[in-house]
Amino acid sequence: MQNVILIGFMGAGKTTVGQALAQSCSLAFADTDQLIEAKTNRTISAIFKEQGEEAFRRMETELLQDLLSEERPAVYSVGGGLPIREENRTLLRRLGTVIYLTIKPDTVLERLKGDTTRPLLSGEHVRERVEELLWLRDPVYRETAHWSVSVDGKTVSALVEEILTCLNPE
Ligand code: S3P
Repeated sequence: MQNVILIGFMGAGKTTVGQALAQSCSLAFADTDQLIEAKTNRTISAIFKEQGEEAFRRMETELLQDLLSEERPAVYSVGGGLPIREENRTLLRRLGTVIYLTIKPDTVLERLKGDTTRPLLSGEHVRERVEELLWLRDPVYRETAHWSVSVDGKTVSALVEEILTCLNPE
């Protein structure tokens, strides 16, 4: 089986759904944010604060390059901004089948209310920021993905089933 990579906006459930999908297919699972945090021994917020977003984006690209040499097939969830670099989009599609988990702005806001771990959504005017970022990123996510699956109103197990149908269409 090929690697499966889940992309999409913050709050779409990439990590939760990815873990459940990996379990149902008996595959390994890894999340790029968690791998970067483990490698640097820093939280994403600390990396943004101390080294800036550009340094974090470079780490994401380096990590993707490392994942390409992994031999064991796996399910990967990747940070919401990772596909924004063109170079990363090419790497993602080389890595495996890319699934875009689409989400409405209201669902993002509902799910991430009170969240303090995402530097891009801290501060004021969060709704405007979510709407603008989603509007900018949605075409990029669509261009990267082999399949898109909407998450609004669905359970994790329903999403796993839907993704499995995309992976095995007949
Ligand atoms: C980001 C998404 C986050 C994390 C960082 C930046 C983004 O990951 O990589 O805070 O640019 O959308 P999640 O999508 O897992 O929240």
